[in-house]
Amino acid sequence: MNCHPQIYEGKAKILYATDDPEILLAYFKDDATAFNAQKRGTIVGKGEINCQIAAHLFRAIEARGIATHYIDCPSTHEMRVKSVKIIPIEVVVRNIAAGSLCQQTGIALGTILPQPLVEFFYKNDALGDPLLTRDRLLLMELATPEQIEILAAKAIEIDRILQEFFQQCGITLVDFKIEFGVDKHQQILLADEISPDSCRLWLTGEPDANLRVLDKDRFRRDLGNVEDAYQQVLARVLGVKE
Ligand code: TMP
Ligand code: ASP
Repeated sequence: MNCHPQIYEGKAKILYATDDPEILLAYFKDDATAFNAQKRGTIVGKGEINCQIAAHLFRAIEARGIATHYIDCPSTHEMRVKSVKIIPIEVVVRNIAAGSLCQQTGIALGTILPQPLVEFFYKNDALGDPLLTRDRLLLMELATPEQIEILAAKAIEIDRILQEFFQQCGITLVDFKIEFGVDKHQQILLADEISPDSCRLWLTGEPDANLRVLDKDRFRRDLGNVEDAYQQVLARVLGVKE
């Protein structure tokens, strides 16, 4: 039983202090939200599943040279992470058109993009996580010009690593959202989580547009079998070397 003070509760995780001020404990919840928490529910077993998927992916990414906040998992739904100050930018990388890209541009769902598209959203639920331009981002002083270049370069590299990883699982990485934090050495670390909550994952080769969905779109769009889809992603991810 963890008896350390809770320092933050987000929609999907609770962060606790530990005896070491440099280390936090992230507890992954079963709670699910969508559309800036206007839709709420529970995905049974999600906490454990996402914690294990994120741990495996963080280890794979770290092994390929990108620094992350991941340390280890003391239990199946808890992750020890390095304490960082989160940069309030949601970095989205897209390989295939879906979601808000289709809604806002009219590009057809499923269009393969000629190159990965990196987008920055303001992490602010009250404002509805709006899409930012680089100039707005600088105006708001959310990051320095140098940090923006680092975030974009890391995002592209993480996309390359994850695309290759998921390809080995028979899963197509459509798009994903990542967050970064700054540690006490001013180093930028990949933070938060990478899981079916934060990615669009399609079963490769499945022609049915609903059956292929293995991510939180099943919850967002009431497609059913949400737990089964998350379990399937976990099983496939664990089958690939880190
Ligand atoms: P979008 O198409 O709705 O902009 O989503 C792009 C990707 O980001 C998709 O993989 C889902 C993920 N995402 C989050 O992780 N959190 C969010 O709040 C939103 C809106 C999207
Ligand atoms: N961050 C969004 C929310 O909680 C979730 C989403 O649509 O992915 O509401």
